[in-house]
Amino acid sequence: MIITIDGPAGAGKSTAARMLAERLGFEFLDTGAMYRAVAWACVDRNIDLTDSAAVTETASTIAIHFEEDRIVCNGRDVTVEIRSPEASHAASIVAAVPGVRLEMVRLQRESASECDCVTEGRDQGSEVFPNAECKFFLTADPQERAERRLLELQNRGQSRSLEEVLSQIVDRDERDCTRDIGPLVMAEDAVQVDTSGRTIDEVVDFLENTSRERLDNPNRTHAWPRP
Ligand code: DC
Repeated sequence: MIITIDGPAGAGKSTAARMLAERLGFEFLDTGAMYRAVAWACVDRNIDLTDSAAVTETASTIAIHFEEDRIVCNGRDVTVEIRSPEASHAASIVAAVPGVRLEMVRLQRESASECDCVTEGRDQGSEVFPNAECKFFLTADPQERAERRLLELQNRGQSRSLEEVLSQIVDRDERDCTRDIGPLVMAEDAVQVDTSGRTIDEVVDFLENTSRERLDNPNRTHAWPRP
């Protein structure tokens, strides 16, 4: 079974997806971390992020592995590095490169092919797994999303102003929503969940109950169209 969780930055997707996967005993796939890893590898190799061919080449040749909640890129643990605001900015640029998306979608489908999986990102329900059994789209008020991101950064010892974080979030939403391939869009059959003012437990309880109803009444087709 595949459960997709999409939505804009700071809507609480990662935490909710991780907790949901744990409660259901499913694997968890953090697809944003994959785009972040590609961006990290490009910066590490001094590749110009506007050079689509070089960025695509990097995406096709790097080795990305998840080890528990760590992400390893080309043998190096980049879990912390890929979470900086600079890495977020770089990730949103490489994520708009069509060749990068093709490669990441291929890897995502491969990762989910042999397991029950909660997968989280922007295009999981709309593009990558259009036939997923259960789809959610998480949203939240931009101000609240910025406050959550700020807290996350502060917990990692990175200081930023709320205004700066809010403006980066609005900027990133704009890039994510307007790119030609795999834009941030709610799948028609997704359940929209506004997480504003809700605790993470309230959100995950709702996701879990809805998912279990689907598990009990499966309408199984293959999670993505076969070529
Ligand atoms: O969810 P995140 O903030 O870690 O995502 C990092 C960037 O990658 C963000 O700009 C959106 C992009 N992304 C994407 O385009 N498609 C996905 N499936 C996941 C993330």
